[in-house]
Amino acid sequence: MSAPTFNDKVAIVTGGGSGIGRAACQRLGIEGARVVVADIDLPGAERTVELIAARGGQAVAVRVDIANEADNQTMFDLAERRFGGIDAVFLNAGMIQPYGPLETLETDVFDRIIAVNLRGTYLGVQQARARLRPGGSCVVTASLSGVIGFAEAPAYSVSKHGLVGLVRSSAAAFAARGARINALCPGMVLTGMTGNGGLEAIEEPDAIGDPTYRGALTAQQIAEVALFLLGRRSAGINGQAQNVDAALLSAFPPLAEML
Ligand SMILES: NC(=O)c1ccc[n+]([C@@H]2O[C@H](COP(=O)([O-])OP(=O)(O)OC[C@H]3O[C@@H](n4cnc5c(N)ncnc54)[C@H](O)[C@@H]3O)[C@@H](O)[C@H]2O)c1
Repeated sequence: MSAPTFNDKVAIVTGGGSGIGRAACQRLGIEGARVVVADIDLPGAERTVELIAARGGQAVAVRVDIANEADNQTMFDLAERRFGGIDAVFLNAGMIQPYGPLETLETDVFDRIIAVNLRGTYLGVQQARARLRPGGSCVVTASLSGVIGFAEAPAYSVSKHGLVGLVRSSAAAFAARGARINALCPGMVLTGMTGNGGLEAIEEPDAIGDPTYRGALTAQQIAEVALFLLGRRSAGINGQAQNVDAALLSAFPPLAEML
């Protein structure tokens, strides 16, 4: 058997207290990484650390509001001070807006969504660019809403389109430092954001079932792609936005039951 993929590596995961981020933290821990679990919800992050420790992994929880520049710096400082350097950064934290069309969108809601999802992730990208060790990788969680418009969540969709642009525009700067950056664009995922919070179970990666064609995915099905992009096996991929959506966007028209 080959050694765990992230042996001797250090990872930072934002939004690590729930959903996709928690699943990624758990899988990184199992693969040998030492993990900084960052979340605005500290008890959630601490629970993730417990789950990692229960499988023999090493992790530390930190309360971070990604919209805050100093918090982003603190999170990277902690990783360097505690674990000696940074190899993998998963900038995954984000928030959804109250659903409603553009006509009902209030400017302060727009501002908040952009401040967290787009500007907050940008602050993390700048830290990752400056501080990843050579061979390192940054992955940003965008969304299918960053690939096509989402009329019921226009501010969210703008923020996620921005993230795809940020990743594509940052690939050169990361390459100049011997690192990479890519985006994930999940479809519908069963997490707190979609009313399926509190999930903790992790399966053996080779035993994960397939999602329904164009149906919802599990957090772990997204996290496995994040680990691939964070690790050395994806060394040839930089500046890309990868849909992970069980083919939801691959064909038109939509399924009859979606109309
Ligand atoms: N669930 C879906 O269907 C779906 C689809 C596409 C993209 N996404 C994206 O996936 C990412 C993860 O979401 P999830 O589905 O796992 O939902 P989730 O609600 O389970 O997890 C999101 C985590 O981010 C944290 N967070 C929110 N704002 C933060 C902030 N300002 N600073 C630090 N942490 C913050 C939350 O506390 C939470 O732990 C998000 O960026 C989301 O937009 C989700």
